[in-house]
Amino acid sequence: MSKKLTVVDHPLVSHKITLMRDKHTPSAVFRQLLREISLLLAYEVLRDLPMTTKTIDTPLEEMEAPILKGKKLVFVSILRAGNGLLDGMLDLVPSARVGHIGLYRDPVTLAAVEYYLKVPDDIGERCAVVVDPMLATANSASAAINRLKDVGATNIKFASLLAAPEGVEAFAKAHPDVPIYTAALDRCLNEHGYILPGLGDAGDRMFGTK
Ligand code: PRP
Ligand code: URA
Repeated sequence: MSKKLTVVDHPLVSHKITLMRDKHTPSAVFRQLLREISLLLAYEVLRDLPMTTKTIDTPLEEMEAPILKGKKLVFVSILRAGNGLLDGMLDLVPSARVGHIGLYRDPVTLAAVEYYLKVPDDIGERCAVVVDPMLATANSASAAINRLKDVGATNIKFASLLAAPEGVEAFAKAHPDVPIYTAALDRCLNEHGYILPGLGDAGDRMFGTK
């Protein structure tokens, strides 16, 4: 398994994922849980953000206090389902810039088809955190990161809710420089490229489209 894989293992995360996997969980609750988990994921993904200090006055004395260094982050959401992780991460880092890449999986070939891209012009100067709840074959995540590299991104991380071992391996081969953070590593893919045990189609579960 990739050395660049971090599975965010926390009782709150595990509990919430169980609720999300349950097919009886309604869309509104599913979205809320995804938003909550994204805060816990972001905490781990952003652990090594560069820091500097600035001089401030507390009510008692002057101090050199730690603050984040450099340009703000950019979160890049892989549409549609990435928006579920994006919302929670923006709650935590409201000043982050946001990019969107629209991709869907061709249901037969499982290849990623791009239909939209909009990212900040200065993405090359920022840490880009790409978010999508599902890393299945990794075709979508790899295609998204290829495009971001084309437009200048160099410092990239990828965050998902569930990952399949096949996807982790394929992604690590395509983008060995990009660390993966996931809330759970599932068993395998089925013959249609769905994660098992998984939670079904994340976009459909979020938006009630099936
Ligand atoms: C889902 C999911 C990922 C992709 C993962 O999107 O949100 O983007 O599948 O599968 P992969 O790793 O095999 O590429 P989907 O294509 O269903 O589009 P949607 O978010 O618009 O529903
Ligand atoms: N995309 C999803 O939404 N779910 C899967 O299990 C695989 C790809």
